[in-house]
Amino acid sequence: MENNIGKEFVRMTKYANLEPSPQSLGVPLPPLELPLPPDAEILPLPDGKAIELPALDLITLVEERESLRKYADTALSLQELAFLLWGTQGIKSISAKPITRRTVPSAGSRHPLDTFLMVNRVEGLQPGLYRYMAVEHKLAHLSAPADFNPLMTEACLKQPHVGNSAVTFMWVADVQRTIWRYCQRGYRYLYLDAAHVCQNLYLLAGAIDCGVCAIGAYDDDQVNHLLDLDGENQFAIYLATLGKRA
Ligand SMILES: Cc1cc2nc3c(=O)[nH]c(=O)nc-3n(C[C@H](O)[C@H](O)[C@H](O)COP(=O)(O)O)c2cc1C
Repeated sequence: MENNIGKEFVRMTKYANLEPSPQSLGVPLPPLELPLPPDAEILPLPDGKAIELPALDLITLVEERESLRKYADTALSLQELAFLLWGTQGIKSISAKPITRRTVPSAGSRHPLDTFLMVNRVEGLQPGLYRYMAVEHKLAHLSAPADFNPLMTEACLKQPHVGNSAVTFMWVADVQRTIWRYCQRGYRYLYLDAAHVCQNLYLLAGAIDCGVCAIGAYDDDQVNHLLDLDGENQFAIYLATLGKRA
């Protein structure tokens, strides 16, 4: 039988087919971030905007954007990582509700994404699994198996740049944050939100002599398992490798 799930998705997420939203039914606003495991080690980050950048020409930055899959052995500085995290998910303000305004757009400012990082080469950080704590602008070092890098590379269909990156960004969608307002249509917005984030990463990377490659080819179940996600309420939605230009 022909699989028409894509067409079904577009049809069933039209406004005419939506049910009353959790928001309209009085369901409380979901938290801004996923909870952290109790054994996470919390690390400070420098101010992302405190970075010194060369004189930048926006036209050149946009025109020279390309996907890069081979990286130099040079490590990123913690300042550079903080810059990239600020520019992809950084919070500019939080209202009382609370609703965040960030450096990227998000449908209804729902900001359903959390940033997980596989760190391979960042000065001052042990290689391993981290999560960006956007609200506090800090890093959480999460426990992960010793062979996390080869496992993640395998989960990304053996793409070598996943393992060879200085950092691989892994954006996780927390579905309820967007569904709360937009019901099933919110699924469209999760993917659109993630795309904006990755595009900012591409452009910011160009400003610090780094290159990026978006990663959409991965085994969902394997990546979700490695990130300890249930794969339904929270799932890896988009990945990107990054490193210094060779
Ligand atoms: C949604 C999406 C998924 C992608 N997935 C991968 C991937 O898994 N592996 C990879 O090497 N490149 C991936 N890419 C990068 C594309 O191959 C790349 O953008 C395209 O070849 C155009 O090249 P350019 O980015 O240098 O202009 C992806 C790009 C997008 C936008």
